[in-house]
Amino acid sequence: MPESEIEKILSDAQTFLKQEQALFGNTLYHEKKITKPSTAAIVEKVERTESTMAVKKKIETPAPVKKSPIIEEWNSAADIVDLNKQICNCMKCALGKTRTKFVFGVGNPNADLMVIGEAPGADEDAQGIPFVGRAGQLLTKILEAIQFKREDVYIANILKCRPPNNRKPNPDEVEQCEPYLIKQIELIKPKLILCVGLTAAHTLLKTEESLTSLRASVHNYHGVPTFVTYHPAALLRNPNWKKPTWEDVQKLRKMYDELKTN
Ligand code: URA
Ligand code: URA
Repeated sequence: MPESEIEKILSDAQTFLKQEQALFGNTLYHEKKITKPSTAAIVEKVERTESTMAVKKKIETPAPVKKSPIIEEWNSAADIVDLNKQICNCMKCALGKTRTKFVFGVGNPNADLMVIGEAPGADEDAQGIPFVGRAGQLLTKILEAIQFKREDVYIANILKCRPPNNRKPNPDEVEQCEPYLIKQIELIKPKLILCVGLTAAHTLLKTEESLTSLRASVHNYHGVPTFVTYHPAALLRNPNWKKPTWEDVQKLRKMYDELKTN
């Protein structure tokens, strides 16, 4: 083998190891190679695991889309840029008064993967871009670990405005803001959705199930396979959740590859 090739391999290996270390610390997780299962096989496997774990019933029926009773103009937005323009001055809830910037969403308007978080934090509020703080940087690394660049995917939150002191979104705030996200999903038409954390999962899937239970299966959000995993901010607090998160996103990547080749 020519020396330049050996150098390239060594450099790739070093890059990989540095990334793994950044993500998971000094523990190396080894993934067993699985020979290309079909999407059906993946789903079946998830379901089997689910039944053996006696996890609660998989959510089969898509939750009804909550439409606002009044048809507002933004509802007919033709694309994501248009939608942002129409809603970015929103004052439907009190957060409109306290926000610095409206945090609409970022990424590829034709993304195959949409990542949904909870709400902007201080950094996001200042910059108007979701997931740019510490948790956001970890999310970027998690995506890179499964060969997605930030720019390839679309990243948005349940709430577009920062709740003061990073408190959890109130039900009325979620109710006012969720229709915007529904419209974003409708316009982007992702092939897969990843909910990070319970707020995103509970809002989209209309359930109160635990994160452990929700992680155990692939859900159906209006026909879009939807994965649930830990919120990157939770991983910063509890590094023990990094390994399960890594496993979740590997499953997502496998299903993505299957969908692309089928
Ligand atoms: N946490 C979130 O859920 N979303 C962000 O945009 C940033 C932090
Ligand atoms: N609880 C949460 O709310 N989110 C997580 O990601 C993990 C536990």
